[in-house]
Amino acid sequence: MSISKIASIEKRLQIKRLVGATRIVAPIIESDVVKGLTQTPKSLPPRYFYDDFGSELFEKICELPEYYLTRTETAILQQYAHEIAKITGACELVELGSGSSTKTRILLNAYNQLGYPLRYLPIDVSAGILESSAKQLLADYPSLQIDAIAGTYELALAQLLPTQLPSRMICFIGSSLGNLKPHECDMFFSQITDALQVGEYFLLGVDLQKPKQILEPAYNDSQGVTAAFNLNMLNHLNRQFQGNFDTTEFKHWAFYNETEQQIEMHLRSLRSQTVELQSLNITINFAPDETILTEISRKFDLNNLQQQLTTRGLVPIKAWTDSNQWFGLLLCQLQA
Ligand code: TRP
Repeated sequence: MSISKIASIEKRLQIKRLVGATRIVAPIIESDVVKGLTQTPKSLPPRYFYDDFGSELFEKICELPEYYLTRTETAILQQYAHEIAKITGACELVELGSGSSTKTRILLNAYNQLGYPLRYLPIDVSAGILESSAKQLLADYPSLQIDAIAGTYELALAQLLPTQLPSRMICFIGSSLGNLKPHECDMFFSQITDALQVGEYFLLGVDLQKPKQILEPAYNDSQGVTAAFNLNMLNHLNRQFQGNFDTTEFKHWAFYNETEQQIEMHLRSLRSQTVELQSLNITINFAPDETILTEISRKFDLNNLQQQLTTRGLVPIKAWTDSNQWFGLLLCQLQA
């Protein structure tokens, strides 16, 4: 690559870091961990999955034969990205939990083909994956401008740079909405409506309800990648809080809760044990078979969700799905 091209990449990239070195956000995050591990039943905030290694493992999950979500959503995006771009017109893309930005390329291509200017504002808790995917995108899209934020959705959404293009679309794909509990989901929708101007867009990808024979293998793959991803959260906590979790003493456990219509992912303690997190000043006791809930993944009914969004002013103007109706993509517009 020529020097001038590298320089131009630097010019088109800005990364704001709200995680890592920042002291201001640390107390909020730490108290989440203490609260989760000292209550019964125990739980942990899912964002601890995504250290740099966790983000890599997640990319592997997306390619697993059992994990139909990514493939299905990608196919829907491929089929309808052009239609989305035509509806929104020139529009900058904000993406929550951007990860490798693979699916975003489909949208960028559609806007590019229509001759629209390209601006992308990815948000992710992993600064590592944010930086590496941003650099690849800038090399592949010569006119793209990227303003990235490394941080949690809440903090990042409140600190977005001013809109430069005629409109803005917040993308929340990959069914990450399913990882929020109902009350968190409500708060999240408020953050979205606060971050958008009337007339702007919200693109939402969600996994739909289906038999558990299809759902459960997606979270219990035969190669054990999901298990490694789940257990990696303990390594992340060890590093961040000087902990001594022994990952061989815990086991991945995931199942579909049909009443709640959600996958629940846990780490199960194989025996009675005590774990310390030194920098948080806590000691945690585990009984044999006691579990830590690390993630829920709710499965949606498209009609109910559309109604819920409408009551929040995020009016669905178009919904797309695949031929099996396994996954849904909703384009919503903020109304006054
Ligand atoms: N949001 C996706 C889902 O619910 C991705 C995801 C989050 C995930 N946590 C996970 C996938 C744990 C596998 C395992 O499926």
